[in-house]
Amino acid sequence: MSQAMSQANGTASVPVIELRNVSKTFGEVRSLSAIDFKVHPGEIVGLLGDNGAGKSTLVKTVMGFHRPDSGGEIFFKGQRIDDWSVARARGLGIETVYQERALCEKQPIWRNMFMGRELRNSWGLLDVQRMRSECARLMSEHMGFTSAAVHPDNIVTTMSGGEKQGVAITRALYFDAELVILDEPTMGLSLTETKKTLDFVGNIKKAGKSAIFIDHNIFHVYPVVDRLYVLDRGKVAGVYDKSQITMDQLIERLYHVARTGSMQ
Ligand SMILES: Nc1ncnc2c1ncn2[C@@H]1O[C@H](COP(=O)(O)OP(=O)(O)O)[C@@H](O)[C@H]1O
Ligand SMILES: [Mg+2]
Repeated sequence: MSQAMSQANGTASVPVIELRNVSKTFGEVRSLSAIDFKVHPGEIVGLLGDNGAGKSTLVKTVMGFHRPDSGGEIFFKGQRIDDWSVARARGLGIETVYQERALCEKQPIWRNMFMGRELRNSWGLLDVQRMRSECARLMSEHMGFTSAAVHPDNIVTTMSGGEKQGVAITRALYFDAELVILDEPTMGLSLTETKKTLDFVGNIKKAGKSAIFIDHNIFHVYPVVDRLYVLDRGKVAGVYDKSQITMDQLIERLYHVARTGSMQ
């Protein structure tokens, strides 16, 4: 591969996050087995695999929620981090977009946008004015809400599922996430809400940030990602640059993995 090509697909850059030889065992269950995984700057990485393949365990390890078994290593921008934890990961800009249910439904959009990271004035008091105006700006600039009907004061319950995901993704970008993790963000969403959520994932890339995108539906994953990992029973069964595989070929491979447990 030429230098220019490897630059273009990000392989020449230092990964934002890299897991080396990461295994995770829960009692008798081996959820991850010697995983090598990385995400480059500005890259959207898809994770595919059946239920129980280890997708959530993998991203929970990236989030610092799980510690790898001994022998596993985690690197952030090329530096090995030994005391990996949720606080450490968050401090380094790794943000997770939880299912839309994680928003406070009875609170206005602006409160949700700044939940846990409220803007304050020089007196240390909540700067409601600034949070509302910032929220309005984010909604029009990042979320593409031009309709006057969608106002920062609106209560979250009134929004569609896709719009709620938009709030969560915009919040992550606003707080300067380096890497946004989305674990099945389209679960339970309608077709149009799903489309909206996938557009928001595109915004992450436009903002020059990275993402790990999990969805069991390949039709959701393929269009938005740059690279794909296929997990099968805790192992990496295949890694693909999107430019190297068509959706049809990928579907073929997935069926093959399901039948034989191997990508070959
Ligand atoms: N906290 C846990 N304790 C015990 N087993 C777990 C735990 N988390 C995940 N597992 C097991 O690990 C395997 C992978 O699960 P998971 O990562 O949730 O898969 P996926 O997200 O791909 O559906 C499953 O067999 C699951 O039951
Ligand atoms: Mg899962």
